[in-house]
Amino acid sequence: MTIGIDLLSFSTSRYFFSLKSLANYRNVEYAKYYSGIGQMKMSVFPPNEDIVTLAIAASKRILTKVDDISSIDMLIFATESSFDLSKSAGIYVHHFLDLKPDCRVFDVKQACYSLTAAIQLAKNYVSAYPESKVLIIGSDIVKYSEESSGEPTQGGAAVAAIISKNPRLMSLEPYSSVYTRDIMDFWRPIYKNDALFDGKLSAQNYLESLKITFEKYLQKSGLKKEDVNYFCFHCPFCKMVKKAARLLSINNVDDTIIYNSIIGNSCSASLYISLISLLDNCPSDLTGKRVGMFSYGSGSVAEFFSGRIAENYRNVLFTEKHQNQLSSRSEISFKEYEAFRMDLPVNCCYENAGHVFLKTIEDDKRIYEILKNQL
Ligand code: CAA
Repeated sequence: MTIGIDLLSFSTSRYFFSLKSLANYRNVEYAKYYSGIGQMKMSVFPPNEDIVTLAIAASKRILTKVDDISSIDMLIFATESSFDLSKSAGIYVHHFLDLKPDCRVFDVKQACYSLTAAIQLAKNYVSAYPESKVLIIGSDIVKYSEESSGEPTQGGAAVAAIISKNPRLMSLEPYSSVYTRDIMDFWRPIYKNDALFDGKLSAQNYLESLKITFEKYLQKSGLKKEDVNYFCFHCPFCKMVKKAARLLSINNVDDTIIYNSIIGNSCSASLYISLISLLDNCPSDLTGKRVGMFSYGSGSVAEFFSGRIAENYRNVLFTEKHQNQLSSRSEISFKEYEAFRMDLPVNCCYENAGHVFLKTIEDDKRIYEILKNQL
């Protein structure tokens, strides 16, 4: 029996802010953002969109290809943008997806690594209960303070995946290697809206963690570097992926960063958006190919693992939906960008990514509603 990713999709905002405009307002050469950092656009989120509404949009899409949703008996929500220290964001999603009550729901956190932790937990669960399916979600909205060096790397998105036996997309291999190190490279105290970071230290630790985990992965698996056909790297900004590829002396990563270069950093979701980008955009048939996955969460935990792409994987892709979603986004002005960043009330109505929007916050309770055209 193989276990792995049966279905995979992402959802992001209907709005973007162009890094050309940001460069203009910040008096920075656009070439720094475009070639120096590797980013062109960032997804930005109106106040009625949050990690829950994005997660529902991504999950609803994959559930259209699940025959029996009652086989989902666990939902793991990975995020570092949580708005509640107690209640799991996953419970709102469970409600709007109409999942059965005897479904275990909880959130996990470890910066951008958390969705990989969720995958490994889900994989072990399915190996114990092969008839079960696990819905895993990574959803993050990334904000750095204005005029900081991190500002051009902001973004956000949600990825949803079903982990099951006999997966139609990618089976997970048993080999993986993990590296944990206590380091202050990126953090967000609970009283802060914007993440704090030491950019240079984080980039250095990312690369050191990659070197350590990849060497250990090869050692444990007995594989050679050439046995890994494609690589997906955690993508806080696309230049980081190019540096990772340079470190391992590989060169075929362009297809993996097409989506991230116009979405921005989506933390827990970002590595899996790279995988979706590869699957959607690589013209070669990937059947049977081994994909190496490098997950990095500041703080820090890193993991290198791999999977093999299933036969007929193209039958379960959502390529057109992803491409339409990105090409139909509307550009916002600098004034709107500032209002969105601060979650200020806005005068006009903004569209949502999917089925549910955040209507209001009353008595500190978040009230979500199904969009009228979805009822
Ligand atoms: N034209 C072309 N290139 C230019 C340029 C110009 N006019 N001006 C500068 N550049 C180049 C620089 O040469 C540099 O290239 P190299 O990296 O190849 O040397 C690049 O643009 C960046 O410029 P700086 O070195 O001046 O860097 P910066 O101070 O602007 O910061 C950053 C860049 C470190 C990535 C910053 O965006 C940052 O701190 N981001 C947040 C932290 C982060 O994402 N860390 C990544 C690892 S941590 C992680 O992965 C977890 C996570 O998701 C956050």
